[in-house]
Amino acid sequence: MATTAPAGRRAPVLELSTPALVLDIDTFEANVAALERLLAGTGKTVRPHVKTHRTPELARRQLGGSAVGITCATVGEAEAMAEAGIDDIFVANEVVDPRKVARLVALAGRARIAVAVDDPEPVATLSRAAARAGVEVDVLIDVDVLLHRCGVATPADAVALARVIERSGGLRLRGIMGYEGRLRLTDDDRAAKLAQAYARLADARDALVAAGFPVEVVSAAGTSTLLEALANPEITEIQAGVYALMEPELLDSSLPFQCAVAIRGTVISRHPGRIVLDVGRRVVGMEYGPPVPIGFAASRIAMGDEHATIEMADPVPALGSEVDLAPGQIRTTFNLHDHVWVSRAGRLIDSWPITARGSSQ
Ligand SMILES: Cc1ncc(COP(=O)(O)O)c(C=O)c1O
Repeated sequence: MATTAPAGRRAPVLELSTPALVLDIDTFEANVAALERLLAGTGKTVRPHVKTHRTPELARRQLGGSAVGITCATVGEAEAMAEAGIDDIFVANEVVDPRKVARLVALAGRARIAVAVDDPEPVATLSRAAARAGVEVDVLIDVDVLLHRCGVATPADAVALARVIERSGGLRLRGIMGYEGRLRLTDDDRAAKLAQAYARLADARDALVAAGFPVEVVSAAGTSTLLEALANPEITEIQAGVYALMEPELLDSSLPFQCAVAIRGTVISRHPGRIVLDVGRRVVGMEYGPPVPIGFAASRIAMGDEHATIEMADPVPALGSEVDLAPGQIRTTFNLHDHVWVSRAGRLIDSWPITARGSSQ
C-alpha cells in the first residue's frame, strides 16, 4: 500500500484500479473546519461518530478544537481506534455480552472509555470487570428520546439506573445520551418530533440533577439534527458523523458541508444514451438509493452486483474512461472497502486503510 513520500522525495505514483473509493481530502478538511466554526462560541463539544468511515486516519483528522474524543458504535471500532492511538472513546451503544464487556474494560487500561447503558444487568457486569482490572469506565445513561430503540423510557428509570451505577465500583456516571436519529428536512412533524425528543432529554437530565446526580455530559444529535442540537441549551456534546464526508440526501439542508467521497468506476460498455460502469452493489451502499453521478446528469441508474447501467444524454463518455459517483449511504460504502484513496487538488496523494472495516462485533 502506498504511503506519503518523506519530505524532499518524489511522491510515489499511485495506481488506482476501479471500482475505488476516493476521498477529496480538501472537502473533508473544509467540512471539519465548517463544523468547528458552527461550534465556536456555543460552549458545546463534538465527538465525531467514526462509524461513518471506520478509518483511524480520518478520525485523527477530526480531532482537535471542539472535538474532544470520538464516538464508536461497536467495541471492535473502539479497539481499532485505540490501536491507532486515539485515547478518548465513547461507545454510544449498549454492550451486554460479558466477553465484549471484558474487551471494553481492557481498552480502559490505555484510553479513556465511556459506554452507554440502559439496564442494571450490564452495569453489574461492567462494574465487576472494571473493578477486577482496577480501571474506571465512564457511563452515560441512554435515554429513549425518539427512536424506540435502546434507552431508558422515563426519567424515573434514569434515576433508578443512576442509583445502581452509584453503588457500582469501577464506574463513573458522566451524564446521559439520547440519539434522535436521522430526521429529514421534509419529514412530517420534524419540529414537533425534535421538540419532543429534546424535552425527554431535558426531563431525564432534570430528574437526575434533582436526585443529586452529576450530569456533565448530555450527548445527542447526528448531522441531520445538528443545527437544532446546537440551539438546544441542554445538549453539551454532538455525536455527528456523516458531516465530515456527507451524503447527497443531506445536501438540501442548510448545513455548510459538501460531499467528499466518490466511487470511481470505469466505462466497460458503451451504447447510444447508455453506459455501463464496473460499479455495483458490492462496492456502494444503496440504502438511500443509487449513487449520484458527479459532473453529469443521468436519467436513470440501475445497479447490479458489479454493474451500474446509466442512461444519459449523448455523447456518452469513452470506453475505458473513469467516472465518479457520489454514494448515497456513506457508512455501508466505507464498510465495503479495504482502503480509501486520498485525493488533494485532484491528485491522488495517499491511500489509507479502513482498519475497522467489518468490525461490527
Ligand atoms: C447513536 C448515534 N449517534 C450519532 C450518530 C451520527 O449521526 P450521523 O451519522 O447522521 O451524523 C449515529 C448514526 O447512526 C448514531 O447511531
